[in-house]
Amino acid sequence: MSGRTKLGVLVSGSGSNLQALLDACARPDFPAEVAVVVSNVPTAFALERAKKAGVAAVVLEHKAFGSRADFEKALAEKLVAAGVEWVCLAGFMRLLGVDFLGRFAGKVLNIHPSLLPAFPGLHAQRQALERGVKLAGCTVHFVDPGMDTGPIIAQAVVPVLPGDDEAALTARILKEEHRLYPLVVKLVATGAVRLEGGRVVSEAGPAVGELSLRNPGEPG
Ligand code: GRF
Repeated sequence: MSGRTKLGVLVSGSGSNLQALLDACARPDFPAEVAVVVSNVPTAFALERAKKAGVAAVVLEHKAFGSRADFEKALAEKLVAAGVEWVCLAGFMRLLGVDFLGRFAGKVLNIHPSLLPAFPGLHAQRQALERGVKLAGCTVHFVDPGMDTGPIIAQAVVPVLPGDDEAALTARILKEEHRLYPLVVKLVATGAVRLEGGRVVSEAGPAVGELSLRNPGEPG
């Protein structure tokens, strides 16, 4: 498919969400492609996933820059040079500042392993278990300068089961992350979901309803 929306995916770790996006982009009818993957961690396994998929993989170590502003300027330049229109954070462990976000205004997404606004930040699954919630899940949202605070696009819910430990709950949520992120990317790439005046506007109709609540165990 020609004229597909170009994505830049920012990673710091394993990159299983990157893999879900790469797999979706491999389908000929998917409206987006991954143009470049940038990691701030040189050892991130996500870089191997990018290379295996034939996608440009770039390391930009934040520690190598004198300031956060310099790092983010270099990051933005890499993305612009690759023709990126949408930026997808996929396990990227840095906050982004207003200058960077202004260059990709309303076009930066993140996925977080909790039902935001509950449990932002690190170890969301552990926080959920410690509080004893009965429902957990994941959220895809637009990125603002805060920690997991931007406008919410879609969520998927999973149960917390008796006997769950952090690994079990993480795995159950991750399965939903891998389904939800490509679906949202498809919606934003086609313009069915967008940010207007700081709020999420959706013309996705029942598609987003389907995303928002889904019984675990349904085929997907
Ligand atoms: C995911 O749980 C994602 O929601 C969070 O960081 C984790 C990244 O995992 N932001 P992976 O690198 O995509 O496997």
